[in-house]
Amino acid sequence: MSISAKTKICCVIGNPIKHSMSPSIHNAGYKALELNFVYVPFCVENIKEAILGIRGLGIVGTSVTVPHKTTVMQYLDIIDETAKKIGAVNTVYNDNGKLIGSNTDYIGAIRALEEKTSLANKKVAVIGAGGAARAIVFGLKQKGATTTIFNRNKDAAKKLARDAECLYESLEQIKKIKTFDIVVNATSVGMLPNVNDSIIAKEYLSKHLVVMDIVYNPKETKLIKGAKETGCELVFGYKMLLYQAVGQFELFTKHKAPVATMEKSLLEQLEKNYE
Ligand code: ATR
Repeated sequence: MSISAKTKICCVIGNPIKHSMSPSIHNAGYKALELNFVYVPFCVENIKEAILGIRGLGIVGTSVTVPHKTTVMQYLDIIDETAKKIGAVNTVYNDNGKLIGSNTDYIGAIRALEEKTSLANKKVAVIGAGGAARAIVFGLKQKGATTTIFNRNKDAAKKLARDAECLYESLEQIKKIKTFDIVVNATSVGMLPNVNDSIIAKEYLSKHLVVMDIVYNPKETKLIKGAKETGCELVFGYKMLLYQAVGQFELFTKHKAPVATMEKSLLEQLEKNYE
């Protein structure tokens, strides 16, 4: 599809942005559906001016990534209820000049988990209390799971547990993981280049557990490898990335996303990152 005055523009804003896989994933989706859309990355320092630009240029929607997910909120017209609770926006869409902040990170995590397991009444351990953990914990709450947060910094765990009305434990207690149904690593432990680190030693895992790692780089982290060897059900981090992008694609284009095409593009990008 050639670019013209009719082309609708979407983007991702963050800093740094050069490793973002979102342009490839979204553009692959537009191409598959022959939509007259284009998706471009912007390295943004001043988020206020970037949001003014989105208004001024009539950009249809933007993904928002580190470090702007919280600071962007003050410049938007409406923040939806879930994004308000999570306290972060990863998606802004332009509804006829009204900029609406939303969060598809939690949708991504929940959809990735639900491919492998139901969530209602399940005992879930979430490791971490940062932005990603927050989105996941609120998503789990919505689905009726009983969540316990394990975090190195216990004050951060306590705060998130209070906000989301769930339980918390110190990270040392992760040894008790066998008493749970599902465990989610929502920390950056195991991410390239620290591929030999895992937040849970393999000896503590058990076959009945569903194990999700939000780390997608490498695709198979040490935690996922240990879980595979133990016989656990696995949820790869790249699935969360995929489904949060699918959520954005559908908000921006109002079309059902071509998930398989977008997944293929994401996996190709991941392969390139390893080279
Ligand atoms: P994000 O927004 O991507 O979740 P973040 O807000 O920096 O990133 O959160 C990172 C999370 O990973 C935190 O829960 C952090 O634990 P602390 O609150 O104790 O800092 C956790 N984390 C990072 N490196 C860790 C490590 N080596 N061991 C244990 N937890 C770690």
